[in-house]
Amino acid sequence: MTSYIIEGGKRLEGEVCIDGAKNAVLPIIAATILSGKESIIHNCPNISDLDTMIEILRELGCRVTRNNKTLIIDSSSIDRYEVPDRLVRKMRSSIIVLGALLGRFKQGQVSYPGGCPLGARPIDLHIKAFKDMGACIVEDHGFIICKERQLRGAKIYLDFPSVGATENIMLAGVLAQGTTIIYNAAKEPEIKDLQDFLNAMGAKIKGGGSDTIIIEGVESLDRVEYTVMPDRIIAGTYLIAGAITGGEISLTNVNCSQMRAITSKLREVGCNVCEDKDKIHIRAPQSLKSVDLIRTQPYPGFPTDMQAQFMALLSLAEGTSIILETVFESRYKHAKELIRLGANIQLEERTAIIKGVNQLQGATVEASDLRGGAALVLAGLAAEGVTTVTNTEHIKRGYGSLVSDMSLLGANIYKGENM
Ligand code: EPZ
Repeated sequence: MTSYIIEGGKRLEGEVCIDGAKNAVLPIIAATILSGKESIIHNCPNISDLDTMIEILRELGCRVTRNNKTLIIDSSSIDRYEVPDRLVRKMRSSIIVLGALLGRFKQGQVSYPGGCPLGARPIDLHIKAFKDMGACIVEDHGFIICKERQLRGAKIYLDFPSVGATENIMLAGVLAQGTTIIYNAAKEPEIKDLQDFLNAMGAKIKGGGSDTIIIEGVESLDRVEYTVMPDRIIAGTYLIAGAITGGEISLTNVNCSQMRAITSKLREVGCNVCEDKDKIHIRAPQSLKSVDLIRTQPYPGFPTDMQAQFMALLSLAEGTSIILETVFESRYKHAKELIRLGANIQLEERTAIIKGVNQLQGATVEASDLRGGAALVLAGLAAEGVTTVTNTEHIKRGYGSLVSDMSLLGANIYKGENM
């Protein structure tokens, strides 16, 4: 079990470049299965979820080489269609590999992705969509086995704009016979990035980023070279690092238009935020102001992946703030750890009531999920004294350079011994 040790109280200043987006690169890597050719992907982040996805592709028979932030994937030699259970357990979003296997090979098998610290994480919308496209799904001993001669295009209405289900349907529909239309599709920017990647391979998809996506099936796909979009959640996390330490930082390689829900809340707490093309500059106020309500919603609403980080920030804001988590049923595991640092937080089911305190005190706290862990690091940066965050494997799933980037900005943070 690894840990980060943080000596809080340092005001962060400086400039950091933002890496490629975890939630864009994972479906894009799954999409490389579809072509049976070479795909070159630039701006890949150095995160453990990407390592897991590479392991999955190698298990299926792909050749994958990595050169710093560039991945070269050759999917011509795939000869297995089952994702090993141990890898699905490691990363539940590997379920999107199923759509690509089904799309190209008309078969695939993955074990049921378990629940996780955020809740049950069902995949009923994925399964229903595959059935609508003509797949025969057998759910046997915790495995989902899909077989079909040929997938056919279908009109699919998603009961919830699920990101993963939208991506899986896109991957299954690219080589299907006929046209697939997704209504009530997820509108996250990562969906548009996946569409752009697939179209660069020769797919015919439009509407990515809107609530209706149209996929016209094609016969085959070509080799492709592509650069992944920047990670808006890492960017939002780093902006809060500047805000919570009373600092002033700049981020480069960001897409400002994708971060409006985040930057508007940062202005609401009193930060001065300036945007200029692919750069964002933030200056913290003398004292942070509470926010009446943060309600997490599908894009373009306030992102659930920024909820924990904002809870850490609001712990130090004057007054009482309310957070309503509407996307996941239990995404507050970080609250009890923030309370150990001196925060005043009350939970009522999906609602968190945060009464700002003057100061957090360093302590040993435990990360239980990716964004909750990042929130504990943010709180530690502001806390008086030393904070040790344990179980930082969770954080490395989505942050490839958190310690080095925070150090670059002046934080006293370093990796603890394996405990
Ligand atoms: C993606 O997860 C992201 N992960 C999550 O980011 C993000 O929080 C989430 O979208 C919402 O934006 C990746 O992209 C790898 P969903 P996903 O399907 O696809 C329910 C992070 O920290 N649902 O949009 O799993 C589900 O239970 C991670 O980077 C069903 O009911 O999210 C949840 O309540 C965490 N049935 C809601 O929809 C289904 O079949 C949102 O899930 C599928 C989902």
